[in-house]
Amino acid sequence: MQKIHLKAPNCWINDPNGFIWYKGQYHLFYQCFPYSVQWGRMHWGHAVSQDLVNWEDKGIALYPSKKHDRSGCFSGSAIEHNGKMHIFYTGVNYTEEDPENINHCLNDDFISAQLMITSENGMTFDNVSDKKTIIPPIDEKTVGSMTHTRDPKVWRGKDAWYMVTGSTVDMTGRLLFYKSDDLENWSYLNYAEKENFGWMWECPDYFEVNGTGITVFSPMGFFKDGKEYDSAPVCMFSSFDESTGKMELSENYQLFDCGLDLYAPQSTADMEGNRVIIAWARMPEAVNGEWNGMMCIPRVVEVKNNHIYFRPHPNIKNSFTKEITSPSQADSSGFMVKTSLHNGESINIGGYIIRREQDRIYTDRSAVFGDRDNFRLTAETPLIHEGYELEIYVDSNLIEVFVNNGEYVLSSVVYGLSDEITGAGYLLYSPKEV
Ligand code: FRU
Repeated sequence: MQKIHLKAPNCWINDPNGFIWYKGQYHLFYQCFPYSVQWGRMHWGHAVSQDLVNWEDKGIALYPSKKHDRSGCFSGSAIEHNGKMHIFYTGVNYTEEDPENINHCLNDDFISAQLMITSENGMTFDNVSDKKTIIPPIDEKTVGSMTHTRDPKVWRGKDAWYMVTGSTVDMTGRLLFYKSDDLENWSYLNYAEKENFGWMWECPDYFEVNGTGITVFSPMGFFKDGKEYDSAPVCMFSSFDESTGKMELSENYQLFDCGLDLYAPQSTADMEGNRVIIAWARMPEAVNGEWNGMMCIPRVVEVKNNHIYFRPHPNIKNSFTKEITSPSQADSSGFMVKTSLHNGESINIGGYIIRREQDRIYTDRSAVFGDRDNFRLTAETPLIHEGYELEIYVDSNLIEVFVNNGEYVLSSVVYGLSDEITGAGYLLYSPKEV
């Protein structure tokens, strides 16, 4: 059983997949290479939770078994229909394997198709008899790429099902939209793109919060300073016309997270109907050589005054109620620091520095990230409007700073935090026993 953060079970994990409240529990699948701490031929791992706080790992749900997914089961989503869980994902087939590591492909040359698999109970998956290719590899170059079209997210519209995938044409990232009446037969509707916004868009998501459309995706080649990473998830207001499949993306965008490492967020409706979103924290190195990759804490998406908020999920917030006086009293699920910063003030949590200068919050992980010069070490929020209240969730390898209950969030991976906290005054909490 894991608490608060879902971490790779002794292997490699990346994107959250198939996130859904289904038959009385949350299911969170994830990209997984179960044999090592490095990315390889992708499987879907599976974890379940009653409350988004305590997670139980259920092992591998999807594995390569068909021609179209022989080289990996890439990211995708889940919906419930007629009581059955339906999973949509991208199957990849390497044109040529790397002879030195057959779990990688040579020259980034592979073929992608969109597949579906169903389950009666969300726990057992018949990888041999129950997979269907629902969208074959794209062969129309003006529509999308046969290689880089992936990560289907499916949702129920007014009277049909809709799917968005990420893709690229002429080195410009785009979204492709499809429609279906029965979840098996899909027809292409339309695309959306934005100038100078990365060469390929991964892991798209579209949902409404109180009637306002929001699109989230992870553009690759977005930052051009030569540092890791060159990609970061973005979100923006949008509207989607179901009859034409045309999506209008707003000119302005927000980063999903102002920190340095979160990627590939995926959302679902929680059991109360709130929009909850979770993302992968990319890690440059396995911890103790044992595991690589973890999920951030789930966040609730809200919209106020034309701004998208990412609040810590109330179940997480309400768990951190046991007052402690030192980080050494917390267990491996971490602790939460509450503080408020005056202009020029800072707090140093085990070597990780959070500072306020005027109307921005800055973070610096230089002392707790080893000698990794090719990575960004500092981050900052845009101008803040609502105050300087911080709720900081601290795990040994991920620090998530919620500014004003999610006006902005800064999350960064760290290694080797100490137990000392200095600087501004604070209160400390660890999760209560459940
Ligand atoms: C994003 C991503 C997805 C893809 C998956 C493969 O991190 O590259 O686009 O489906 O990871 O593991």
